[in-house]
Amino acid sequence: MKMQLQSRSVLCFVVLAICGLYSDAYRILFMGPFPAPSHWMWLEHFQRDLLKRGHHVTSLNNHPTKTPHENLTEIILNPIFDIPKHFPKENLFTMRYASDFQNLQMYWKIGELTTEHALQDPQVKRLIESQDEHYDLVILEQYFHEAFLMFGHKFKCPVVTIGTMGYADNMDHAMGILTPWSFIPHLLLSHTDKMSFSQRAYNSYLSLYDVVIRRWYYMPRMQQIAEKYFGLAIKGALPNVLDLERNISLMLINSHRSVDLPRPSMPGLINVGGAHIQPAKKLPEDIQRFMDNATHGVVYFSLGSYMKSTDMPPEKTAQFLQAFGRLKQQVLWKYENASIGQLPANVMIRKWMPQNDILAHPNLKLFITHGGIFGTQEGIYWGVPMLCIPLFGDQHRNTIKSVREGYARSMNFAQLNVEDLVNNIEALIYEPAYKRSAWEISKRFRDNPIHPLEEASYWIEYIIRQRGARYLKSQGAHMPLYQYLLLDVIGFALLSLWLAVWLPWRMLRRLYNWWALTVATAQKREIKKRL
Ligand SMILES: *[C@@H]1O[C@H](CO)[C@@H](O)[C@H](O)[C@H]1NC(C)=O
Ligand SMILES: *[C@@H]1O[C@H](CO)[C@@H](O)[C@H](O)[C@H]1NC(C)=O
Ligand SMILES: *[C@@H]1O[C@H](CO)[C@@H](O)[C@H](O)[C@H]1NC(C)=O
Ligand SMILES: *[C@@H]1O[C@H](CO)[C@@H](O)[C@H](O)[C@H]1NC(C)=O
Repeated sequence: MKMQLQSRSVLCFVVLAICGLYSDAYRILFMGPFPAPSHWMWLEHFQRDLLKRGHHVTSLNNHPTKTPHENLTEIILNPIFDIPKHFPKENLFTMRYASDFQNLQMYWKIGELTTEHALQDPQVKRLIESQDEHYDLVILEQYFHEAFLMFGHKFKCPVVTIGTMGYADNMDHAMGILTPWSFIPHLLLSHTDKMSFSQRAYNSYLSLYDVVIRRWYYMPRMQQIAEKYFGLAIKGALPNVLDLERNISLMLINSHRSVDLPRPSMPGLINVGGAHIQPAKKLPEDIQRFMDNATHGVVYFSLGSYMKSTDMPPEKTAQFLQAFGRLKQQVLWKYENASIGQLPANVMIRKWMPQNDILAHPNLKLFITHGGIFGTQEGIYWGVPMLCIPLFGDQHRNTIKSVREGYARSMNFAQLNVEDLVNNIEALIYEPAYKRSAWEISKRFRDNPIHPLEEASYWIEYIIRQRGARYLKSQGAHMPLYQYLLLDVIGFALLSLWLAVWLPWRMLRRLYNWWALTVATAQKREIKKRL
């Protein structure tokens, strides 16, 4: 008997020791179902860092990795969701501003379509139906794919989300704070925190619209999608995605104190803006030579990874070439075709450019960009003035901010002409104020206690170690609205106040009436007596 006990405890000890030995390597399900390449390029930095730290990652996304790893298992959605088929690119080049309400609806629509597209993939279906898979953590891009939160429920593990686009009100709500609409502009607006009356009114209207439609139209759609694809595979009633959202342990958000507005926060909201920026690597030899040799500096032009320069209308391409031909500077253009027609002597085109390393080159004078969030952050980091030509989504907003900060100018794509282009480019290169502002903000952006990517990985591991760390958010997340806003307490106080005034008043009146009546009857009696 004693022997048995002893051998059992030895076994226990050995098992524990082995567990302890391997407890640092976790199994993580990393999901980026949104097909736009720039989103994944950003997310993959987090994934690579987790692999580097020895964790095992199963990655569900649209873009096969170029850096395979023995501990990386990929689930690549196939076929990839065809965004341009649903949202034609031609429209993006001609449209000026879509209304904020249209933009919101577009996000919800694209969220529904891409979520459903991803969930019906046979490999994803197999993951949903899997019986023997185990994960310590689910990581999901925070981008209109709430049905995917069901994976946290399926694998009974905590969920971390990564917010590519910065803050939205619903992230605050999930963490237990109500966004103050008086000084926090809605995700889609580019106001500062000093809003005029009309701005505050519009902000409240848009934010309220967002909350109401999200709660009573969009999230129920997500619930339907979740039930359609998880319903059969998971036993028992499925939880509500709204509750799953309130159960998210941690949100890593693409925001940085030096460039974004200060806002109320929770310990579970971590800013990781700039996580993707790495030290500059060596440039390919031809580009290196091209840039080293540029006595008047270099202008770099890229429309990002989604919109291709080759999609531009030909007359625009011609205008850019003509303008570039008139510059003293050398021009690097990310153009996705080997040929472009007549190429001026000072222009070099390449299908792909190592953007971060080019922006880091000391001869770089100007970045001509569509104003995407990741490119803008890279430009900020390396202190480069920018000419922003925004096309859609958050690009208009980012551009307005950049112009406000004084390191950028903006142009409207549909209306630009050669003369304007040259003028803007030369102003940004020759007026020193732009470079000064760019350096100023760069210094602020780089001033971090720890690299944002390292911080992100620390918190991801923390969530696993502390089993979801439910204490990183406030009870506000689980409270009904009337309690959060103290409507019950205010109602009670008002009622008490009213009673405190009204009751004595009523009693005094009664008393007075009674007294008056008594006096009156007494007088009457007196008069009667005298008569
Ligand atoms: C892969 O995971 C194993 C087991 O956790 C670990 O020993 C190994 O170092 C990892 N490989 C790499 C390249 O990190
Ligand atoms: C939220 O998380 C807690 C603790 O991990 C769990 O008990 C609860 O069931 C979760 N809620 C939902 C709706 O999944
Ligand atoms: C570098 O500049 C010199 C002088 O301007 C020029 O002669 C030479 O051809 C350039 N080299 C390259 C590789 O562009
Ligand atoms: C690339 O350029 C060639 C020649 O100008 C043209 O025929 C071809 O359609 C272009 N390809 C793309 C993808 O634009």
